[in-house]
Amino acid sequence: MPFSRRQFLSSAAAVAAAGQVPLALAKSPTKMESLIELLPNVIHTANDPGRWKKKAGSHLPDVSLEGSSLTVKTHHGMSRKHYIVRHLLVLDDGSVLGSKTYASDDKPEMTITLPENVGGRTVLALSFCNRHDLWASSYAILG
Ligand SMILES: [Fe+2]
Repeated sequence: MPFSRRQFLSSAAAVAAAGQVPLALAKSPTKMESLIELLPNVIHTANDPGRWKKKAGSHLPDVSLEGSSLTVKTHHGMSRKHYIVRHLLVLDDGSVLGSKTYASDDKPEMTITLPENVGGRTVLALSFCNRHDLWASSYAILG
């Protein structure tokens, strides 16, 4: 059933009354991308996968947001010889929001709770494959 205008206004008013601003994500090839451009063939992105052009789909970190829980996944197979080693989540001021190191039999997925007052900031997700190097996706946090 579609969300009616009345329901929307009611929920928006409840959120505003509670002092909360709902957060959302948008892909953001902004200032984080210019940092990455300084290191071609070291950090790979959707726009510049470098020598691993055919590997982008299985290496770019996939970031989603539900409430203030931000999840990073890399849709990559995991085996003893080839696996995702680590995720790192960095805010645009360089502060590390979270990281996780994986063993070859782990699932490459991590979830963190965003700190307050991050609306309008950019977050960079990094994923490192032991064979295909470092991959990055950046997102604007709307809210
Ligand atoms: Fe890989």
